Amino acid sequence: MTEQPLIVLLPGDGIGPEITSATREVLDLLGDFIWEEHLIGGASIDEHGQALTDEVVQACRESSAVLLGAVGGPKWDAAVASDPSAPRPEQGLLGIRKELGLFANLRPVKPFAALLDASPLKRDRIEGTDLLVVRELTGGIYFGESGRRGDDVAFDECAYSVQEIERIARVAFEAAARRAGGDRSPKVTSVDKANVLETSRLWRETVTRIAEEYPDTEFDHFLVDNAAMQLVSRPADFDVIVTENLFGDILSDESAMLTGSLGMLPSASLGTDGPGLFEPVHGSAPDIAGQGIANPLATMLSGAMLLRDGLGMASEATTVEEAVDGVLRAGLRTPDLYTGAEGETEVGTEEVTRAVIEQIQG
Ligand code: IPM
Ligand code: MG
Repeated sequence: MTEQPLIVLLPGDGIGPEITSATREVLDLLGDFIWEEHLIGGASIDEHGQALTDEVVQACRESSAVLLGAVGGPKWDAAVASDPSAPRPEQGLLGIRKELGLFANLRPVKPFAALLDASPLKRDRIEGTDLLVVRELTGGIYFGESGRRGDDVAFDECAYSVQEIERIARVAFEAAARRAGGDRSPKVTSVDKANVLETSRLWRETVTRIAEEYPDTEFDHFLVDNAAMQLVSRPADFDVIVTENLFGDILSDESAMLTGSLGMLPSASLGTDGPGLFEPVHGSAPDIAGQGIANPLATMLSGAMLLRDGLGMASEATTVEEAVDGVLRAGLRTPDLYTGAEGETEVGTEEVTRAVIEQIQG
């Protein structure tokens, strides 16, 4: 690599600082990076009165990739409860996604072998699960124009354009093609609520049309309620799931539990060009912040996605993933994963981070 990649680090709130600094240590073993740290979410509200400043957006735009922890916490929720116009930490996250045009959110769900018994689902249900949720991230009800409150009524508008649906559908079909190989043939499942919502009917029509461009890819549709049920009853049958913003938010948390803990799921948010943003799927976990017990693995795995999808460093990404696998095989478990089974050792953030580093250093 001729230039040193610049990574913007947005630790955010709650456990964000702990898990991102652990991940930074791990990534620094694998490349020569320049790091630039900025505030987002509640931390930015405290300092600047808003969850995202123009300066931070600009810094992200000029970076090679962005690594984010998590945003939000009870302190700012309480402020909003007493004054609905108070700034919300989540505006920072939604704002940076929108500003960077990160319309494609990729959330891979593949349980580690060592965690098959940590899931609330039985091992024989989740064995073989290897799916990817492709969530549309900059449209839909999250970004409706007329979100507003009346005295005793509230509105949220859900809108999708053909162009927004087409581009996310293409991301899904391309991802399925890339994932195929060996005994896996490409498959895309589109999830909507076309029996009720007009946006979903447009979604279904449009994705079906794009599917015709990929005749070798198996393609089907599920209504979101049915998809939620199928995800726990036969998760191994899914390959790529493509869905709109709100359904993707819900289904990805549900899928996360297949891996044993919400603390294991990484994500990449990508646009057409420019830097991607990489963050764990879980939130800021304010209840355990500062106790040194947060699970940093989802953030480290997001760091692996940053290396692979953001910087083209595929072999270094695999190194991180294998190190995480090694640590889990060795039985180390943060409290969210600890079941008390034989061979498990309950550890904190620091210990699990050291163990990942040792795995990488061999
Ligand atoms: C996620 C989170 C966010 C979302 C929140 C924090 C705004 O739940 O990334 O899944 O709803 O997109
Ligand atoms: Mg979510």
